[in-house]
Amino acid sequence: MQNDLLMDKIDLNTIPPEDETGRQYYFMAKAKAHVEQFAEQLGHVPTCCVTTFGCQMNARDSEKLVGILQKVGFEVTESEKSDFVIFNTCTVRDNANQKPHGPLGKSNGYKRRNPLMQIALCGCMMQEPSVIEKIRKSYSFVNLIFGTHNIFKFAELLCRMFEADGMIVDIWKDTEQIVEDLPVERKYRFKSGINIMFGCNNFCSYCIVPYVRGRERSRSAEEIIKEIENLVADGVVEVMLLGQNVNSYGKNLENPISFAELLRRVEKIEGLERIRFMTSHPKDLSDELIQVMKESKKICRHLHLPLQSGSTRILTAMNRRYTKEQYVDLALKIRREIPDIAITTDLIVGFPGETPEDVEETIDVVRKVKYDNAFTFIYSKRTGTPAASMENQVPEEQVKVCFDKLLKVVQETAKEQVSKYEGQIMDALIEEVNENDSTMVTGRLSNNTIVHVPGDVSMIGKILPVSLDTCHGFYYIGHCV
Ligand code: SAH
Ligand code: SF4
Ligand code: F3S
Repeated sequence: MQNDLLMDKIDLNTIPPEDETGRQYYFMAKAKAHVEQFAEQLGHVPTCCVTTFGCQMNARDSEKLVGILQKVGFEVTESEKSDFVIFNTCTVRDNANQKPHGPLGKSNGYKRRNPLMQIALCGCMMQEPSVIEKIRKSYSFVNLIFGTHNIFKFAELLCRMFEADGMIVDIWKDTEQIVEDLPVERKYRFKSGINIMFGCNNFCSYCIVPYVRGRERSRSAEEIIKEIENLVADGVVEVMLLGQNVNSYGKNLENPISFAELLRRVEKIEGLERIRFMTSHPKDLSDELIQVMKESKKICRHLHLPLQSGSTRILTAMNRRYTKEQYVDLALKIRREIPDIAITTDLIVGFPGETPEDVEETIDVVRKVKYDNAFTFIYSKRTGTPAASMENQVPEEQVKVCFDKLLKVVQETAKEQVSKYEGQIMDALIEEVNENDSTMVTGRLSNNTIVHVPGDVSMIGKILPVSLDTCHGFYYIGHCV
């Protein structure tokens, strides 16, 4: 708010302020002038559209982009025919990598019809030099490319885009900076993601994230609490604390604090009803965290605890730093301490050197832990990661057979777990009108299970008791009581 008022008073004839937040507000004021000019050229208020690929981190980043776009005068739409389109990309697996190509090709067509149209690319894929090379060659119609480390400079980059003739490419290798207090436009009024940390130091041998998101950096607890308090004042009842490994939160802060301690502080925020977090690396999950979850009235009964593989041999090659037994002991301890918790996971099939016997070990863990849901991925070779140069890549046919077998067990256990609550009454946060039936609304239980109930738009954002009448595999049909 304060910054908003400041923006109108910014004198663009002076040099930009030195503090980064102030500097970006200066460039927002400047970009606003550019957008006004753009509107004159177009003959209407310029429209924009941000398309997001990948994880919750990218979704949150896109909310930051939209916040700035609105502030500088764009009308935000969902149409990829808009006057300015941005693709926020992901590169975690090869199929994620392929996704932007189709829409990007289409934008080229739209741009031929609307030559003033501007196109930008950002996100994790842009941190790969080979990708930039390819875009320069094959997609020369793109106006702006930036990466994950300089996204806080978006306002400044927008100005450069409007001032330049050709393609602007600005990619940083890394950053130490965390810039606070820039505008954000939430997708949902009643819930929000919050970055509590950026980057990752784990270097799992298959994973590209540490290379494209940089080293781990935590935000201060004070900044996080302040942001959540502001969100709650603005109508948010549920927050999702985001980090690649939230269990190592706070270790690199000047005054180190544990993730469990951060949760204790978040819990105290009045008006906040639900707390979620993602993702927990099993190697760093403390007893203190289990205790805090157990005692909490607000932390949701859901833990995403990625296993990746149930074979200790493969886990070692993956650099996960836990054994099958350690993982199973941990998961069962959590189930003992918090009996109503839902545990979900990520699994990879086809890591180099994996045999069908290794996959049997993974299946064994699925049976023991009884996941409430699991994302099962086929290993995807990411250039630059240690696993990419391992010799014994697994034949496609074996991967397919093992994947199907694992998926079947995952679906069986998930169905069994989810259906446990049939007939019970639980609280659901109503999130949206049902896509297929406008007389129904869709809610989410604390344990992350979806329930559809008769209702209308007035219920959105409320936490209501619902009866879980019938389980349909992964979701319930119920009614409000
Ligand atoms: N930080 C999170 C995971 C982020 S990536 C964690 O450690 O749990 C999300 C998931 O994508 C991972 O859990 C993993 O299962 C999957 N993944 C990452 N790299 C992959 C690759 N090269 N091939 C297949 N799946 C991959
Ligand atoms: Fe990737 Fe491992 Fe970091 Fe998760 S913890 S982002 S899987 S390197
Ligand atoms: Fe993808 Fe980047 Fe997230 S690679 S999964 S968008 S951190």
